[in-house]
Amino acid sequence: MQTNVLGVDVGTGGTRAVVVDERGRIRGSATEEHEPFASPQIGWAEQSPEDWWRACGIAARKALSAAALHGDKIDCVGFSGQMHGAVMLDSADQVVRPALIWCDVRTEKQCQELSQKIGPEALIRLTCNPALPNFTLTRFLWVRENEPENWKRVRSVMLPKDYVRFRLTGERATDMADASGTLMLDVANRRWSREVLQAAEIEEELLPRLFESPEICGKVCSAAAAATGLQPGTPVVAGAGDQAAGAVGMGVVTPGAVSVTIGTSGVVFAATDRPVLDPKGRLHTFCHAVPGRWHVMGVTQAAGLSLRWLRDRFGAGGDENGRDPYDRLTAEAAAVPPGSDGLLWAPYLMGERTPHLDPNTRAALIGLTASHTRGHVVRAILEGVAFSLRDSFTLFAEMGVPVETIRLGGGGARSPLWRQIQADVYGREVEILAAEEGAAYGAAILAGVGAGVWGSVDAACSEVIKVAQRVTPQAAGVEQMNTSYAAYRRMYPAIASVLG
Ligand code: XUL
Repeated sequence: MQTNVLGVDVGTGGTRAVVVDERGRIRGSATEEHEPFASPQIGWAEQSPEDWWRACGIAARKALSAAALHGDKIDCVGFSGQMHGAVMLDSADQVVRPALIWCDVRTEKQCQELSQKIGPEALIRLTCNPALPNFTLTRFLWVRENEPENWKRVRSVMLPKDYVRFRLTGERATDMADASGTLMLDVANRRWSREVLQAAEIEEELLPRLFESPEICGKVCSAAAAATGLQPGTPVVAGAGDQAAGAVGMGVVTPGAVSVTIGTSGVVFAATDRPVLDPKGRLHTFCHAVPGRWHVMGVTQAAGLSLRWLRDRFGAGGDENGRDPYDRLTAEAAAVPPGSDGLLWAPYLMGERTPHLDPNTRAALIGLTASHTRGHVVRAILEGVAFSLRDSFTLFAEMGVPVETIRLGGGGARSPLWRQIQADVYGREVEILAAEEGAAYGAAILAGVGAGVWGSVDAACSEVIKVAQRVTPQAAGVEQMNTSYAAYRRMYPAIASVLG
């Protein structure tokens, strides 16, 4: 019997909806852009939750029409979304103020105060993570402190995709993976942390109910059916934050499986069967979208962004043959030998998360000579981003996180040169998937498990995700990359000593 599910990813730039059938094939997809986020002050980032709901309605309708399916042919809906955002609703369920989203870093003061109050080690013990301004809780503390009249009106809070689900179903629900990025979840025990909530003076009643990702947590309500084209009563699963959903979409679900996804940022993600802690909090330890599993992840802030920055600021457009500017840049870099003739790039354009947790560090290009070309700079950037991602593997090794297979995703997986550089820098074979469809696809798989198409997330992944190519490290490249990585590691302290 034919079954179809809908996966919806509420991203930052837009909402993407994909219709997937019982064999994991994409029947139709569509993306609707969001209004760009507002940044009323440096370090602030705000978006309108109502705009996400508008985009969801349009993307869902367009995906259904691309699949030539009526809403009554969708058996279940799953969500994924940008993590860490703070949505606040009043007693009439109206949005109190624009949401503070994942890249808003205004809460350094609240982080310090909370960390001091609970104690940094106790906080890591309670939530598996340190207080970082990217996480949700301190955003509420900021609103309470700086906009008390707004905070007084708040009756419920939720994460971005959970607001869209609330509009679709009327249910206040979230999943363990997305809740992990709030700093309010007892990640090890998969429940809200009473201790942290008490210390922060946040009432648990404000928070949504917790579910495992493939669990059904609501049904499409009549009011939302018209906006989306879905049938009232269609079941909706909890879904997951975009990183965990993306990992499901790449089949990175069992211990030993690791993905490296280079988009604007770069994420190294490892599935684990227990919550593995870095006592210094340099990696995030979150629940996975698979019940009873966790993951650790390291984040490079400016991964793809490093290359985009070079393209945008130093004028590498397409050429007269209509070649894509990235293809042109990487073709120039391919002519340069591994090690970029001594040129090194530290990709700290946006400060750094892993391993330095330092929002104030800055990028650097070291080793320039008059004979270096643009190709050298591009190659140094591709290598420098891979070195930064290797830092997460170095931490995995320290923490005993197993690495058996590495799958590449995002824009960084599309360039053959960047694939080879990554294989050489990690010193491991890397896998490229036949189709990599991102977090919306992972959300659809979770919906499929909820609808009973597959018996488990593991079963779904082994059935639908296929490896298309394996790239093996080349001995000469590995040797040079090991030498360059050692030099790269000396850059961060040197930058700190120069910048003071
Ligand atoms: C994860 C993170 C981003 C956001 C935006 O920690 O900050 O992946 O979820 O997509």
